[in-house]
Amino acid sequence: MRHGMKRLLIAAAMSGVAALAQAQTVKVGVVLTYTGVGAEFGQQITRGMDTFMKLHPDAFGSCKVELIKRDSKNPGGAEAKTAVQELITQDKVDMLTGFVFSPNAITTASLATAGKKPMIIMNAGTAWITNLSPMIARVSFSMWQSGYTMGQVAAKQLGAKTAVVGYTDYPPGKDELAAFKAGFESAGGKVIDAIPMGGPGKVPDFTPFFQRAKDKKPDVFFVFVPAGDHAVGVVKTYGALGMRAAGIKLIGPGDITQDNKLQAMGKDGVGLITVHHYNADLDNPENKRFVAAWKKEYGADSTPDFMAVQGYDGMAAIAHVAKTLNCKIDPGKAMAALKGWKFDSPRGPIMIDPDTRDIVMNEYLSELVEKDGKLYQKNLATTMAVKDKCKELGVGKCK
Ligand code: PHB
Repeated sequence: MRHGMKRLLIAAAMSGVAALAQAQTVKVGVVLTYTGVGAEFGQQITRGMDTFMKLHPDAFGSCKVELIKRDSKNPGGAEAKTAVQELITQDKVDMLTGFVFSPNAITTASLATAGKKPMIIMNAGTAWITNLSPMIARVSFSMWQSGYTMGQVAAKQLGAKTAVVGYTDYPPGKDELAAFKAGFESAGGKVIDAIPMGGPGKVPDFTPFFQRAKDKKPDVFFVFVPAGDHAVGVVKTYGALGMRAAGIKLIGPGDITQDNKLQAMGKDGVGLITVHHYNADLDNPENKRFVAAWKKEYGADSTPDFMAVQGYDGMAAIAHVAKTLNCKIDPGKAMAALKGWKFDSPRGPIMIDPDTRDIVMNEYLSELVEKDGKLYQKNLATTMAVKDKCKELGVGKCK
């Protein structure tokens, strides 16, 4: 090799080393419920994030992503606020993500604005959360996407004339009630009672609430609870009170048929009709790959649920921002990169609406069926590219 050529190669190799040494770290503050009533949600989201990183090692370009995890502990919002304050002032994160319970996002939105930190929401579903800060983009859902769609389906497809609504009494529950009522009544139905059923912090005895609903003899009983053990309690109480035999159909958003809780519901769950943006039984190639990778890592009996896919998609959004910005997170440029971002998710195609910074996605109508002693979701119909109806209609705080 000629001398000049050799020097050139050494220089190129050295600049490679220099580039590696300079590979910038993007610091992401992750605020999730790692303990307490939402601990399983925190685990699902974390595993979803990890599965994305495993399946897409090149998505981050040359950036190194450092995740700094903080426990928001409970649905109240106080711990989340302290966590976000520390992540911004002490850890000097570039971005924020996580946020399981709506109050955790509601109490911290102003900190994201003041600290100019892009905040990617991986669950918290109260519709108007995205209006609280221009720094927020949401990869999870708005309560109105399932609630309004289910209201329309209940009146049009299920032929229901009357409904009673039971809801966990905090912002997303109130939102889900408003959404279902708007969808149902605009299609000719009538909500004849709305029953607050305690807070999200602990699973109540649902018996008195469900008895009140049963006494009203509605065609359908629409229930929202924040998934998890609440959902199992709902289905068990519906069975114990003989509501199906009384001719009352249990319907709701997919929060009441969370994939990893189905087998605990047993026969009482068979026939439940829900609308949601994800279930593990969705038949598309991205989902097959996601579920297979999940089962390989976490065990054949383990199932990803809607929270897991939100963690997966949230990590995809973070990777997109990091790579697009060459690892230097300018807040304005990060938000610009998120607006209109599209991704082929296991839940189907998703997009961040450039006007609202909220997600646009399909909603799936499903029925819980039993096969070989196991419960699974049979997908009946798909509503494509659903936007947040609360902001479309300009209802209340969504204006
Ligand atoms: C929320 O607090 O926004 C929330 C929590 C759990 C759910 C849905 C919404 O299943």
